[in-house]
Parts: sequence; structure tokens; C-alpha cells
Amino acid sequence: MSTVHVITHPLVQHKLTMIRDKDTGPKDFRDLVEEVSALMAYEVTRDMPLEEVEVETPICKMTGQAIAGKKVGVVPILRAGLGMVNGVLRLIPTAKVGHIGLYRDPETLLPVEYYCKLPVDVEERQIIVLDPMLATGGSAAAAITYLKKRGVNSIKLMCLLAAPEGIELVQREHPDVDIFTAAIDEKLNSHGYIIPGLGDAGDRLFGTK
Ligand code: PRP
Ligand code: URA
Repeated sequence: MSTVHVITHPLVQHKLTMIRDKDTGPKDFRDLVEEVSALMAYEVTRDMPLEEVEVETPICKMTGQAIAGKKVGVVPILRAGLGMVNGVLRLIPTAKVGHIGLYRDPETLLPVEYYCKLPVDVEERQIIVLDPMLATGGSAAAAITYLKKRGVNSIKLMCLLAAPEGIELVQREHPDVDIFTAAIDEKLNSHGYIIPGLGDAGDRLFGTK
């Protein structure tokens, strides 16, 4: 079974509370989502392997450490995952970015795919899937299934809020994928919205409602 990592750092929790606030407008919402994503990326990358490298300081030569292993790819689930991309790229500027477009059918709550563009060498990369909301888990599970079909075998899922229902689905369908979230909320309402949640992440990011 995969591990669920809840990022309890005070800065993350403080900013998450501001994100949840219904009076936070799109500009602040976007800035805060980006900031929290950067802080979370720090934890998501904690287990990256290191290798020894020679470096010459102004004083002498020494052996330092540099990141080794797989290159990173970030894959936001459109639309709302886009809000997390720049935060992660601040810490990993060389990461390639793929996009998977999915929306939830409002009646069935099932994900409908409408776009996909991934880096050509996606299967060689450590992929971090980005989506602020893990609600029923259908969108994240479908995106991960798609990535696995493309040959990716190293995937982490990073979200801001997770519902227990979404965690259960992703863990059941993808027991190899660790989940990183800033909070696990109580439940879903009858429309599949996370309670207490933060509302509709895509609409709040892009001001579409
Ligand atoms: C939201 C959110 C997730 C999905 C989560 O996207 O960004 O992708 O819902 O729900 P699930 O876990 O039940 O699948 P939405 O479908 O509203 O599309 P949008 O990002 O374009 O607004
Ligand atoms: N998508 C959102 O944007 N918010 C929710 O609470 C659930 C799904």
C-alpha cells in the first residue's frame, strides 16, 4: 500500500487556511496555491538520490553532493493543476511539463479526457502528478492509469486537499503511488465537492464563476 504524506509544516497550513477562505480572490488564490506548491515540492523531493561530485570552491577542491537518478516531469491535470506548476518549477526548474486534460462529468462525476501532451521521454522520468483537489479520486486515478500505459513506472501524486474517498480509490487502483497532500478533509457532499474543502479550485484560480 502507498503512503499518504500530510504536509503539516506551519507555513503550508497557514497558507492553506487563506486558500480555503471564500473571501480570497483569484489573484491571491493563485499566488497562495503557487507558494504552497513550492513548499510541498520540498517534501515531495525529499527522497531524491544524491551522488558525490567534485567542486572547486574559491579556496580548494572538495566533494559535494548533487541530485542523481531519474529526471523529473510534472504533469498537471487541467485545469486546476496548472495553478501548481510554477511553484514546483521554482524548485525544479529543469523539470519537463506534460499536460493531461480531464474534466469531471457533473452528472456521473466520472473523468472525461480531452487533452494529453507528454514529454517524449516521459517513461524515463520521475513524474509528479499535480491536482489541487483529490475528491472522488477518479481524475487522478485516470491520469495515473494513462501515464502507466505510456510506460511511466515512477509516479507521485501531489494535491492540496484530499477526501478519504479519493485516497481510498487511488490507493486501491495505484498502490505504488505515494500521495502528498496538505490536508485530509472530512468527506464529499452529494455533488462530489470536498467538505469543508475550498470550493471549485479551477473556478477560483481562473475567476470563471
Ligand atoms: C476538479 C479538480 C480535479 C477533479 C477532482 O477538476 O481539479 O481534477 O475535479 O475530482 P475527482 O477527484 O472527483 O475526479 P474539474 O473536473 O472541476 O475541472 P477543472 O479543473 O477544469 O475545473
Ligand atoms: N473539484 C473541485 O474543484 N473542488 C472540489 O471540492 C471537488 C472537486
